[in-house]
Amino acid sequence: MNTAVESARKPVTLHRLREMHAKGEKITMLTAYDATFARLVDEAGVDCILVGDSLGMLVQGHSSTVPVSIDEMAYHTRCVVRGNRTAWVIGDLPFGSYQESREQALRSSVALMQAGAHMVKLEGGGWTAETVHFLTERGIPVCAHLGLTPQSVHALGGYRIQGRDQAGADTMRRHAKELTEAGAAMMVLELMPSAVAAQVQADNPGLMTIGIGAGSATAGQVLVLHDMLHFTRGKLPRFVRNFAAEGGTADDAVRRYVAAVKDGSFPDEAVHSY
Ligand code: KIV
Repeated sequence: MNTAVESARKPVTLHRLREMHAKGEKITMLTAYDATFARLVDEAGVDCILVGDSLGMLVQGHSSTVPVSIDEMAYHTRCVVRGNRTAWVIGDLPFGSYQESREQALRSSVALMQAGAHMVKLEGGGWTAETVHFLTERGIPVCAHLGLTPQSVHALGGYRIQGRDQAGADTMRRHAKELTEAGAAMMVLELMPSAVAAQVQADNPGLMTIGIGAGSATAGQVLVLHDMLHFTRGKLPRFVRNFAAEGGTADDAVRRYVAAVKDGSFPDEAVHSY
């Protein structure tokens, strides 16, 4: 994004995101955990910043997202908000911060909203619908998260593709419908066959589905910033494209991501999908 466009962008609101979705414009999202990267991602024109609990692995060096606390998420949300000017900021509710009760979920969400988040995200379906209803009724926009839900990695038996069999796909569709009816405005769909994500989007046309390893039919896409810049060590999942491979700066790589999601060239069904 050039400087003129950059200074012209108005803050991204939920209303604006819904308009984009209604017009068929793809929504772009990347993670950021600090002010420097939040600023870079915002200035490159990314619509939404996710302060993901993936920071537990990428910033804190844990082997999963399970150890991350609500105080740590609030701290990183404050850092991101200081660097960001216009992107929509989503704060991730970490493991153990919303499972106990609706009241606990409200307290944790208030901590992230008071840190500057515009929306909170929580993982899982079924019992979470009641929590989503409780939060949205109290003025807190909620992003749900179905498919591979990393906080449940030990229960799921690893980072595996979800919804591959008919029963799994049917459960996912039922959970997505319940969460939408409970008031979730947005939903991350992680690591599932493209056909299942496409079905969830078709079942709930107003819902903004954001895919990660879920094909190209979702309303938008999200990647972990460290993955798409290839800062992450080790073998990356096939849904990650290395946007730094063509060279230039990190800003260039993020701009390429925005352009590729907006023009539909990322994800490529033949390369990045299941
Ligand atoms: O924590 C995170 O970064 C996430 C994304 C993988 C969607 O939840």
